Amino acid sequence: MAGLKRLAVGGLAVLGGVSALQVQLQKPLVDAVEPAQARLPASAQAPASAGRDKPLVDSEDLQAAISKDSLLGRAKELFEIAKLGEPEYNHPTRVIGSAGHVGTLDYIYKSLAALGDYYTLSKQPFPAVSGNVFEFRLVLDHEVPASASPMSLTPPTKNKQPVYGHLVLVANEGCDADDYPAAVSGQVAFVKRGTCPFGTKSELAGKAGAIAAIVFNYETFPVQGTLGTPSPDHVATFGLAGSEAAPVLAKLAKGDTVDVIAYIDAVVNTIVTDNIIAQTTQGDPDNCVMLGGHSDSVPEGPGINDDGSGSITLLEVATQLTNFSVNNCVRFAWWAGEEEGLLGSDYYVDVLTPSENRKIRLFMDYDMLASPNFAFQIYDARNDVNPVGSQELRDLYVDWYAAHGLNYTFIAFDGRSDYDGFIRHGIPGGGIATGAEGIKSKKEAGQFGGEPGVPYDVCYHALCDDVSNLNLTAWELNTKLVAHSVATYARSLKGFPKRTDEDFSEAGFSRGVGKSETYKQKTKYHGSKLFI
Ligand SMILES: *[C@@H]1O[C@H](CO)[C@@H](O)[C@H](O)[C@H]1NC(C)=O
Ligand SMILES: *[C@@H]1O[C@H](CO)[C@@H](O)[C@H](O)[C@H]1NC(C)=O
Ligand SMILES: *[C@@H]1O[C@H](CO)[C@@H](O)[C@H](O)[C@H]1NC(C)=O
Repeated sequence: MAGLKRLAVGGLAVLGGVSALQVQLQKPLVDAVEPAQARLPASAQAPASAGRDKPLVDSEDLQAAISKDSLLGRAKELFEIAKLGEPEYNHPTRVIGSAGHVGTLDYIYKSLAALGDYYTLSKQPFPAVSGNVFEFRLVLDHEVPASASPMSLTPPTKNKQPVYGHLVLVANEGCDADDYPAAVSGQVAFVKRGTCPFGTKSELAGKAGAIAAIVFNYETFPVQGTLGTPSPDHVATFGLAGSEAAPVLAKLAKGDTVDVIAYIDAVVNTIVTDNIIAQTTQGDPDNCVMLGGHSDSVPEGPGINDDGSGSITLLEVATQLTNFSVNNCVRFAWWAGEEEGLLGSDYYVDVLTPSENRKIRLFMDYDMLASPNFAFQIYDARNDVNPVGSQELRDLYVDWYAAHGLNYTFIAFDGRSDYDGFIRHGIPGGGIATGAEGIKSKKEAGQFGGEPGVPYDVCYHALCDDVSNLNLTAWELNTKLVAHSVATYARSLKGFPKRTDEDFSEAGFSRGVGKSETYKQKTKYHGSKLFI
């Protein structure tokens, strides 16, 4: 039946713009755990096996230890683990809360524990909101608009049954309670996208008594959004393409009534999941090199490229690093809840004390390193709009690709992965990727090979993101580059900018200061979904 689809929409709970709400939501549920280094033995007591008697890490040597076979072997293991999700989801998945994700955490933790006392390991539990939309339908004057899609983390319509009303146009962009006319009570609010988060519009519509809300785009294309942190006032909310909103707006302008049938069957759950953190027992604990990937997948599939590839790369580099000693501490993170909106990394950075925050000299994000129709992408992190040091990191990647005769492209550093929380808390960051749902251009096909006019990853967020959805050549090269990034900074941070006092906090954003404000203006994503 057209417009009546069965799907699982990964929710997203935490938004940079409203992270104060997130903290309120999360802090009472689980006490902040101390970051790993709080439990470290003094470095003078570090046992010899932790690396003291080993040669100082060298980039070429660490890179030489990386092999395709080892990466592929782990990818196959991860796919078997994803199958643990089958009984509940009818297909392999490693979405948070599933047996596939629990198995993934177990695999990562056990692999690291097997490395002895080279690392101090910790699990950081945090509450995550996850949503599932089972069925939905939207009918506007007997038409089923093809672009209508429920927002992630939307509540269901009343009693999970269809509701009936007519459309009431909300003034301006619906960011103010006064924009909602009294007539919206008992009817369906029709709100323009823009200015404030979708979650704010849904909440104000709910407070005004609307039975559902539709956010229509100011651009022609659809709105695949999320309501973010749940509110008791949220109402069932859809996104609608501007092209399908135009004729409806024309009817409303003429004074015609537009009848609506809205139906969403959905749940929003809060669960507890874990970040895994491994920090070298050796190395200066006041100057840490941090890197991360995410351990979870979307509900739709096993997530072997997204982000099995990054998770495995980290595990492989962490394993090979144990043959060396380090001057600076190295801290690896496997985030959970990335697909629900960067939940794990947001939580981690939110609960760092200022002094712990300052010990992190930089954060490197490794998410999707093996896309089948890959490009070598470097986040365009720049010192004029990001914390100072971000650009030096960007240039480390540039230099490595150039030195190996490989092409690369810069991509937007726009909040789509776990670096976002770090940047928002003043920590320099960057990373590399190989492409998601974007389409490879002709020019890029010339630069990287592969097929023009086809997505970098045709299986992005889909069931087919399995072991066959990896380009091993790209993956091995990128893992060597990750090894290079770790070895370089673990050896020395000489010349790498010291941390500055630039205010990237929420308070800094709301005061509209300097670079933090520029980052906010550019950032419309928080994770894979739009929130504004
Ligand atoms: C460490 O070095 C040894 C000797 O070169 C090698 O056999 C081993 O595979 C390396 N890696 C790890 C993780 O021990
Ligand atoms: C880099 O891109 C150029 C075209 O811009 C191409 O001629 C060259 O072969 C590419 N290099 C590699 C290593 O693919
Ligand atoms: C991976 O990419 C390389 C370079 O474009 C290509 O030669 C190779 O065939 C690709 N491998 C797979 C399995 O697609």
